[in-house]
Amino acid sequence: MNTIKSPVAIEINYDYSREAHFFADIINDREVIHLKTQSDADLSKVKYALVWKPDPILFSRMPDLEVLFSLGAGVDHVLTLPVAPDIPIVRFVDHNLTTRMSEWICLQCLMHLRQQRDYDARQKNHKWDELYQPVASDICVGIMGMGTLGQDAAGKLKTLGFEVAGWSRSRKQIEGITCYDGGELDNFLGKTDFLVGLLPLTDETTGIFNRQLFGKLQKNGKLGGPVFINAGRGGSQVEADIVDCLTEGTLKGASLDVFEKEPLSGDSALWDFDNVIITPHAAAVSSLDALARHVANQIERYEQGQELEYLVDRSRGY
Ligand SMILES: NC(=O)c1ccc[n+]([C@@H]2O[C@H](COP(=O)([O-])OP(=O)(O)OC[C@H]3O[C@@H](n4cnc5c(N)ncnc54)[C@H](OP(=O)(O)O)[C@@H]3O)[C@@H](O)[C@H]2O)c1
Repeated sequence: MNTIKSPVAIEINYDYSREAHFFADIINDREVIHLKTQSDADLSKVKYALVWKPDPILFSRMPDLEVLFSLGAGVDHVLTLPVAPDIPIVRFVDHNLTTRMSEWICLQCLMHLRQQRDYDARQKNHKWDELYQPVASDICVGIMGMGTLGQDAAGKLKTLGFEVAGWSRSRKQIEGITCYDGGELDNFLGKTDFLVGLLPLTDETTGIFNRQLFGKLQKNGKLGGPVFINAGRGGSQVEADIVDCLTEGTLKGASLDVFEKEPLSGDSALWDFDNVIITPHAAAVSSLDALARHVANQIERYEQGQELEYLVDRSRGY
């Protein structure tokens, strides 16, 4: 018997027309409805939807929806909606995304370790001037959020020679990395020179990167002050505090990929610090072919009666 498979609805809030064929190619045995271009499509038989910051009205048009896929690793964009269906939410976990994030984190740690911004300024002024240079093992990188992304970055930073520490709600056991649990934050901060944020945005992590926390970081490190590197979520950082801490020297530098409000306002003071590196929420994009494979795999598992992977725990908020 030839059963008709439920369509997959996709709502992505940027123009992905050049890459849309991935979904048709990879999810090739069922209809793919692209909501951006097929806004009037009948969604009454849709069981699966892939979304990023969806319009909640969408859900009233999908009464048969069974599984919701997040286009990214984070799910705050769904969990903070006023109305969202009470169905499993699968977040995006993929080697491609994880690798991209580790590239960005390693790049930022090396930029600050090798004082690249200082050398850039010297180059601009045609100035031949060597700086005192610590080695990676002199620096402790402390990662807040030791999940999929934090653990991969930790391993790669370790390979580069950094001392690495990790902090997460539950303590991890990872060879060569000093791990702390949720109750040991101050001990973790006290030994951290480069603080890396890879936390999901939840009630508990909102505003966690603030003046009080920055004041607890290692002050006597070999680079003369701590550095803050955040690629988790902007809602976890207090930007006014970052500006103050950079101004008064509590922070020596920062690399920020995420912001309280995106895009970052043109008049934010953060743009103008010599030792602040800003990227536009681009540390780790979700590649559409990887996403299509991920959605296809999970639908196959689901329809074969296996458990879905990477399920969001609503009570934890991630
Ligand atoms: N900038 C970008 O381009 C980009 C791209 C992808 C993802 N992200 C962000 O990165 C975040 C992390 O992704 P992931 O895949 O690594 O997530 P994940 O696997 O769910 O890991 C989250 C980590 O944060 C820890 N955590 C959460 N709440 C905590 C709390 N209150 N106290 C202490 N630890 C807490 C968790 O602790 P346990 O291990 O104990 O649960 C876990 O180690 C995403 O949520 C997203 O916001 C950003």
